[in-house]
Amino acid sequence: MLKEEVLKILFSEDDYISGELISYKLSVSRTAVWKAINKLKTEGYNIDSISNRGYKLNKDTDVLNEFELKQVLADIDINCNYRETVGSTNIWAKYCAEEGEKKTSLYVAAEQTAGRGRRGRSWISEKDAGIFMSLLLRPEFESDKASMITILAALAVARGIEAVTKLKVQIKWPNDILINNKKVCGILTELSMDMDGISYIVCGIGINTNTVSFSKELEGIASSIYLESSKPCIRKNLIKVVVEHFFKLYDDFILKHDLSFIKQEYENRLIHKDRYIYAVGGHRSLRYMSRGIDENGLLCVEDDSGELIKLSGTEISIRGCDNS
Ligand code: BTN
Repeated sequence: MLKEEVLKILFSEDDYISGELISYKLSVSRTAVWKAINKLKTEGYNIDSISNRGYKLNKDTDVLNEFELKQVLADIDINCNYRETVGSTNIWAKYCAEEGEKKTSLYVAAEQTAGRGRRGRSWISEKDAGIFMSLLLRPEFESDKASMITILAALAVARGIEAVTKLKVQIKWPNDILINNKKVCGILTELSMDMDGISYIVCGIGINTNTVSFSKELEGIASSIYLESSKPCIRKNLIKVVVEHFFKLYDDFILKHDLSFIKQEYENRLIHKDRYIYAVGGHRSLRYMSRGIDENGLLCVEDDSGELIKLSGTEISIRGCDNS
């Protein structure tokens, strides 16, 4: 598409480039270039134009589309899919898997109308205010390892946000990512089995990037990268680092078969390490001293008698933590 060829040229330039030179490079008319530039502007690109000098792209604009995704993830062997609006990227990814998609794939949307959280909760997914993405994986490991994907994804997101913002990023086991004690990201990993074992895994990641305000009930417990860093977040840049970190971790995990190789880093980020937590499952809420994770991603806790217990994230969620 001409529009994309024009965009590539604008990206490769740090200064103004004339319409004449672009039309020469692409062997098209200047009118065609002008039309392509106008189309890009309507899609959200910030392109400055000065007569006699030409066009200059502001590369720090938060534009997300399939072309941008493919550009930033060009070094990763992944199928990139983008839509403006979907119900849920997890549902979209599962649909594609059921329809026969065999390749590792990424599904990203600008907004979700029925974003899903853990335990049947919803995930607020305002247009362009967050990253809403799901990874479709077809691993060959045993199904008891599936929950470890959430641990890998949490670490990838923590590393990614830290790289982009330089802020300290912590994890609340197994899947909440926190900045300054407030949740900025959640992860929902879903598994489909067949007679041979795992058919596919969908790992959904929701990051509050540019949300400017939260409802009364979420204020104080949820936040966004923008609110914590006072800088707008360019979603494609964060998607790139998170996905790259994820696949680095995933490839190691496939070789090593367990999480020993990231235990230390995960625990360093664990907000409730060596603190009391409440483990909630069904109608029960029990207080434990939280210690860390084991090589399978289970949370290791101690009860009041000092006995070591291991908790699974599929059954338990963690509430509050204090030093008392
Ligand atoms: C949670 O903390 O409860 C998990 C939230 C997961 C939200 C993401 S957004 C992308 C993907 N699609 C969904 O419907 N949910 C996940």
